Amino acid sequence: MGAVVVVGTHWGDEAKGKLVDILCQEADAVIRYGGGPNAGHTVQFAGTQYKFHLIPSGVLTPGVISIMADGMVIDPWTLTEEINALVAKGIDVSGLRISQNAHVILPYHRDLDMHEETARGKAKIGTTGRGVGPCYADKASRVGIRMGDIINPARLRERLEQIIPLKNAILKHVFQADTYTVDGIIKQLSIVTETLAPYICDTQALAHDLMDAGSKILFEGAQATMLDLDGGTYPFVTSSHPISGGATIGTGIPPTAISQVLGVVKAYTTRVGSGTFPTELLDERGDRIRERGHEYGTTTGRPRRCGWLDAFALKHSVRVNGLTGIHIGHLDVLAGFDEVQICTGYTRGDAALNRFPSGDVQLLDGCEPVFETLPGWDEAGVENATSYDELPTNAKAYVARVQELAGVPARFVSVGPGREQTFQLPDSPSAADLFSI
Ligand code: IMP
Repeated sequence: MGAVVVVGTHWGDEAKGKLVDILCQEADAVIRYGGGPNAGHTVQFAGTQYKFHLIPSGVLTPGVISIMADGMVIDPWTLTEEINALVAKGIDVSGLRISQNAHVILPYHRDLDMHEETARGKAKIGTTGRGVGPCYADKASRVGIRMGDIINPARLRERLEQIIPLKNAILKHVFQADTYTVDGIIKQLSIVTETLAPYICDTQALAHDLMDAGSKILFEGAQATMLDLDGGTYPFVTSSHPISGGATIGTGIPPTAISQVLGVVKAYTTRVGSGTFPTELLDERGDRIRERGHEYGTTTGRPRRCGWLDAFALKHSVRVNGLTGIHIGHLDVLAGFDEVQICTGYTRGDAALNRFPSGDVQLLDGCEPVFETLPGWDEAGVENATSYDELPTNAKAYVARVQELAGVPARFVSVGPGREQTFQLPDSPSAADLFSI
């Protein structure tokens, strides 16, 4: 059986959870391979809304093993709250597994995230303030605490005794901020350790056992391609690798195990935080998309910047991730516009660019989008559709054009948050078949 990866194609918030939820019905295990509580998505299931920041949304599907893998950074208090909230709603979380190698976001990471952001002034990144960047920085500097450490009291104390003086020196002398004690951190962690301990294990070994057993594995990406630390629009990126390659680094599963990579695209594009966004609409059309699409962050509540679909960036995403198909969501949000636009390329001065300049934000800054205009579609036509075929002709023409520009087939489209509002395209393999292609 092949593994399937789901990634976001642009700057995040593509509603990957919806596709993950559908594919989960066919999967044996779902693995989140990167990011932390900076992610946030809402899944609507059996009339109830569930908000996720850390736990893979696969946990809602009975019998599916939900793994939080090595590549994640985990705030143990947020995770405990999330587990408790799911249990309170009657969800069985016994299939949850947390990597012993995932790094722990500690209170000083959140403080440093905030102080560093303030110190950047006008050059601020617009982070989610969840301590994600400082935690990944500690991981790379080899001064991180891992989830396995929090259930090993002697090791936890030994590590904190090395690390806390370093962190305190920065907090006190660089930022004139409050400091921490080893005992204080240990005490705070002790509140959640008991809840989390049963789930912490060697998830690489577990993933290998799943592969050996021929299990159907789904990788749930967080954030998205343009936020990738290396290949994204640096420095306005996150600190992990949301691209499909991150799925192997963050889990210990080799690239050869992956057979399908599905990109989740919104019918328009959004971005949160700072950084150039060529197709951004700063007029009432952008406001209209924001309101109709409820484009406010699940994690921070920040209004998202909205614009026309950037298919030039999408093409880049297809290359970087090796996308084998796409899911085009939120077609309902664009309904009611007389005309919609798609960005098919960028120009700089008189010259057309031949590829998306993801690695050079200065170059990106000076780019102008080239738009193509297509006729819009009506709201009733989208609301009443129960299958792809029933969608308004213009909505289907839009999907066809996006596929063409992306150069890969659309497998699914969605017109709302419910499971029944996601339609498979005719001739597309079923969710079950995607695991065996
Ligand atoms: P950080 O990941 O909190 O350090 O934030 C770095 C950048 O990534 C900021 O521009 C955030 O707005 C953005 N970002 C992080 N996570 C998400 C996400 O889940 N959706 C959209 N943007 C995100």
